[in-house]
Amino acid sequence: MQTSRNPGLFAIAIGVALAILFALLGLTGVLEGRLAFGLAAICVIVPVLLYIFYSRGSAITRSGYAALILTLGVGLIIPLLMVNQQQARADRTAALYDQSLQRGAALFGQYCATCHGFQGQGIAGPKLNNNPDLNKFTNDDITRIISAGIPADPANPTVLAMPSWSNRFGGSLTDDDIAYLVAFIRSSDPAYLKQNNLPTTNGFGYVLGTLTNPTQIADYNNQLKTGSKPPTNQFTDMSNQQAVTIPIENTTSNPSGFDFTPPNIIIKVGTTVTWENKTAQPHNVFPRAGSTPPDASFKSPAVINAQTGTWSFTFTKAGEYPYYCAIHPAMLGWVSVVA
Ligand code: HEC
Repeated sequence: MQTSRNPGLFAIAIGVALAILFALLGLTGVLEGRLAFGLAAICVIVPVLLYIFYSRGSAITRSGYAALILTLGVGLIIPLLMVNQQQARADRTAALYDQSLQRGAALFGQYCATCHGFQGQGIAGPKLNNNPDLNKFTNDDITRIISAGIPADPANPTVLAMPSWSNRFGGSLTDDDIAYLVAFIRSSDPAYLKQNNLPTTNGFGYVLGTLTNPTQIADYNNQLKTGSKPPTNQFTDMSNQQAVTIPIENTTSNPSGFDFTPPNIIIKVGTTVTWENKTAQPHNVFPRAGSTPPDASFKSPAVINAQTGTWSFTFTKAGEYPYYCAIHPAMLGWVSVVA
């Protein structure tokens, strides 16, 4: 009869606790299910064998059990190595995914931001950053749109509102580039990320970091900020006129090569301002992104046509109207409407 307590009991207690832990890890998806079950089983079987081992008196049976315990103990190493490998693979997948977002962000900044905005906020092209309508599309739909473009008029597919980007259709992007862009656009949809068990990084946050050209960085900032009001001596007082024309002209003083002339004006309530595009490029007059103009209807169509296009707006509400050309965000203007 044994006098001291069987140490196997202690081992069983620890083993059961570990088995419960592995079972929980398996159930919550931290560990792969079968792996968790195997680990839990070994954690129970080894201590039970230990218990039997200590309760036997015969040296021969004991050595038999010792051999079994040793074998299972060694067996434990294999699943642990698998866990380690599984983790390494998950890390690598996450790093690759993040890299594809960064590549997508770099491509977006170079090829898409002029029309869709550096933050995908939408300018001449629609919003792409978490746009509920776009979120309903499948990855294949988005791939097809970016690859082949969108015709301006379905009856006349030769004129595209959105260019075709695939190098198979004369564009500048490879299939890989387009796949990066799709992952990048998709990363702005929280529901998609959740459904596909992806990290919650919105790739649009990477765009600024990918820009190296100072003009683009300035454009990026201009698109997102209201900016402060220029000093009074930079305003042209036109408050004695009922109708004002602002030509959009070529210039060397603005990094974009164009300017509203003059950019900053003071007018009185009721004045009609007409912007007249005299350059060979399309422009527009958009309220700056961070601003809320006193009159919410202050916004030109996406394009005021090159050479001849005009857009007129009658200011019926006093206040500050900071604006810019969303196609050339370095072109800034400001209308100050006084009573
Ligand atoms: C010259 C301006 C322009 C450029 C540059 C441009 N797009 Fe577009 N894009 C548009 C316009 C305009 C539309 C909307 C066309 C329509 O629906 O009639 C559009 C639509 C889209 C749509 C569909 C959005 C929706 O909700 O229907 C996606 C996706 C898109 N563009 C992605 C891109 C990507 C990616 C790039 C860069 C590789 C890019 N675009 C560059 C003008 C542009």
